[in-house]
Amino acid sequence: MSLNKKGFFITSTDTGVGKTVITAGLLGALRKRGLDAIAIKPIQSGGIRRQNQLVSEDAFFYGLAADLPYTSQELNPFCLEAALAPAVAAEMEGRIISLEAILDHFERIAVKHQLTLVEGAGGILAPLIGTKVTVADLAAQMGLPLLIVARPGLGTVNHTCLTAAYAQSRGLKIAGIIINMYDHQNAGTAERTNPGLIEAMTGVPVLGLVPKVEGLAVEGENPQAGDLLALIEEHVSLDQLLQAVSS
Ligand SMILES: Nc1ncnc2c1ncn2[C@@H]1O[C@H](COP(=O)(O)OP(=O)(O)OP(=O)(O)O)[C@@H](O)[C@H]1O
Ligand SMILES: [Mg+2]
Repeated sequence: MSLNKKGFFITSTDTGVGKTVITAGLLGALRKRGLDAIAIKPIQSGGIRRQNQLVSEDAFFYGLAADLPYTSQELNPFCLEAALAPAVAAEMEGRIISLEAILDHFERIAVKHQLTLVEGAGGILAPLIGTKVTVADLAAQMGLPLLIVARPGLGTVNHTCLTAAYAQSRGLKIAGIIINMYDHQNAGTAERTNPGLIEAMTGVPVLGLVPKVEGLAVEGENPQAGDLLALIEEHVSLDQLLQAVSS
């Protein structure tokens, strides 16, 4: 990885686990520390129409959590309307996803910033182009270490270890795992034992247990970040995360 292409590729054990929330929160917290960080969503499916334009709610949400020098369209170069795997949505909509164009866009943004957070689409094996090019290929081409966002409860050990094992089998580096929607007050035995099990089984550190953010909404007419930044600062080890890009 070249010096001017530092950052993280944020994936998750499934769709809807919290990649956008964690990406936006980390972005805001890192920028608050004075780091020139940026976040992009290279491929969005399930884009919504706003003022007759197809836009990514994920990219829009990054702007809510941090003051960004780009529009949400500039942070999301490829937007599909159908809320399906990108390969399927692209085929339905007669669009062709060009990995080259997406990598060019990433490079143009990444060279101008200290850290680039890249949000994947769905999980690590979500198909992007046909059945051969997946999110793992995009992450590999970008050369960024992964950050895996996982659920807290029963079933997450299996999902998280499968995601990590696949990434490792592809030679991808994993900087850490963040467990999202963790209920610190009411955690049962599964929730309390899962982080340790996941660390022992994957060899990857769990860098944070992020709780539910009151009033937060990524989707809809009136997205709200709530006190996301404060919770990320409180519950994620940013220092440990940053060590992964400084080494
Ligand atoms: N910590 C949290 N507190 C409150 N709500 C959350 C939190 N994490 C996620 N959510 C909610 O859960 C939903 C899914 O989260 P998010 O959009 O971040 O997932 P995702 O992994 O980015 O999904 P996709 O695969 O569609 O990009 C959203 O409606 C979001 O508002
Ligand atoms: Mg998202």
